[in-house]
Formats: sequence, C-alpha cells, structure tokens
Amino acid sequence: MKATAIAPSNIAFIKYWGKKDEKLRLPANTSISMNLSNLQTTTTVEFSKDLENDCVEIDKSGSDAPRVIDFIDMIRRRAKVSDKVKVISKNNFPTAGGLASSASGFAALTLAATAAVGLRLSEKELSMLARMGSGSACRSIPNGFVEWETSYAVSLYPPEYWDIIDVVAVVDEGKKDVSTTAGHRSAQSSLFFSPRMAHINDKINQLKKAMRDKNFNQFGEIVEAEALEMHAVMLTSVPPLIYWRPTTIRLMREVINWRREGLPVYFTIDAGPHLHLICQKKDESSIVKRLKAIKEIKKIIVNFPSAGARITALSGF
Ligand code: PMV
Repeated sequence: MKATAIAPSNIAFIKYWGKKDEKLRLPANTSISMNLSNLQTTTTVEFSKDLENDCVEIDKSGSDAPRVIDFIDMIRRRAKVSDKVKVISKNNFPTAGGLASSASGFAALTLAATAAVGLRLSEKELSMLARMGSGSACRSIPNGFVEWETSYAVSLYPPEYWDIIDVVAVVDEGKKDVSTTAGHRSAQSSLFFSPRMAHINDKINQLKKAMRDKNFNQFGEIVEAEALEMHAVMLTSVPPLIYWRPTTIRLMREVINWRREGLPVYFTIDAGPHLHLICQKKDESSIVKRLKAIKEIKKIIVNFPSAGARITALSGF
C-alpha cells in the first residue's frame, strides 16, 4: 500500500514559541499562519511485507530518519500493522535552514503515511497527529489562513480570501545551529516571555480584526512587531539564540526604508536568518526587483496563500 502527499510550509503571523507541554507539543499560545504555495514537501510512503528494513530518504539523505521512524511507529501502533516502511521525501527548498521544512515535512508524512496504512482520518485528527511530529506542521494540514489554538489547527479563510504574498529572501543556505525543538525549551528562560504571554491574546484579536477588515497596513504592523518580539525572547533566552546574520539585519532596514518611500511591505522572520517580505500582490514585481539588486540574497521565492496538505497518488488498495 503506497500513498504520495504534498504539503505546504507555512509562515506564522503570530508565532508559536514555547510549549505548555513538551511531550505533547502543546503550544504556550495561539498562533496564526498562512500556507505557502512555493515551499512544499512531497512525500511517498509505502508499507510492505516485502521490505526487510525501514528506509527513510529525505532529499536523498537519511538525515532525521530516527524522528521519522518514531512518528511512523506511532501510526503503525494506531493502525495495528507491523509492516516495514519506505519513506521518500523531497523538499523544493533548502532543508532545515529556517524555512520550516519540518512543518511541510511532517504534514506530508502524516497524510501519506495514514493513507498508505489505510487509516481514514478527519482534518482535525490529521492536524493533531502532524502536531506530534512538529508543532507548526499541524498548521500545514488545513487550507489557506490557519489558526492553532490548542491541540489542532483550523482554517480561518481559504487561500483565495486575500491577495497577499510572502516573498522569501534566502540569505544563507547552510543548516541552522540550534533546532527549534531546543529553542522552544529555552523560551521560558527569557525575562520577556511572561510580558509576551500577558498581551498575546490582545495582539491575536487585533490581527484577526485586521484580517477580517483586510486592512493591510494594520496587519503588516502587527506581523512585523510580532516577529521582532519573538526574536527579543530568543535573544534574551539562556543561552541566547541568535538566528540573524548581517544580511538579515540589512534587509530589515531596507524594508523599513522602502516603506518610508511609500511601498507597503513588512517583514517577518522564523527561527532562521531568512526574511519573509509580506506584501500585496500588486507590489510583487517592485519588491522582487529591489531584492534582485541585493547581491547577498541567495534566492528569492514568491509564495501565494496555498491549500493545505493533499494526497496526489494512491496505489495497492
Ligand atoms: O514547529 P517547530 O517546532 O519547528 O516550531 C516553529 C517555530 C517558528 O517557526 C519559529 C514559529 C512558528 O510559529 O512557525
């Protein structure tokens, strides 16, 4: 039994940083994100009695295999099967460099593995399961604009709701030095963590209102301030977490300057050095042109709001 699934990465407008329950990957706070059309993982999972060993290939390497097998074991227990598995996963972007490969990776794996083993789960169940692989993966299951409050994520709006885009400026293709799993653990050691928790629900309500009104400037201001707040927590954690590179800071300053010149564009950053420029579709070419003039940028990836994880092939049933 074999299934292939494709899943998008997602960018959080309100970030998930810190957990309430480490083992269950329950978040300290609600997060809100958008699925990304051009940062995707495609995963094929096959369970077969003919396989002698479990085999995992991620972008042609076996890295992260133990984490994938732990996850597959959970699905095998649930489906009561003991067949060996073959997992082949391909990202269309640099793996583990702060472009949320774990989100698209575990969302695609969840869907492909449950389909291949014959489980038919609801979107809620799939989102809950994906969360156990990587927290943010639960947001890559539903469509478009997504909210994750407790143990699973739901769609707030479909992808076509709002013509905004995320232009990713890749500044460094190397692997990051501190994983998000380790980073989440240190969030609460920051003095800024409690004040963040004290006002996060107000911020979420303001963001949701800006989305409801499609008020882009209000939306962008909250998104940018939120990214800086999460990084303030990272920078003041013990030990400190510094994901930025010189080019990250240069780009943040450029974005603020472009805005002063009248271009409505805001940035957000995850646990990595890359900048996500959030803008409206009408400004895409002007922003891409400006980014192309900056030689330190390794790659530019334009993303539209996308559907969530979906099955693309099934066989052997
Ligand atoms: O899903 P994880 O454990 O890789 O955590 C993701 C954390 C951030 O990307 C930094 C924020 C977020 O909400 O996506």
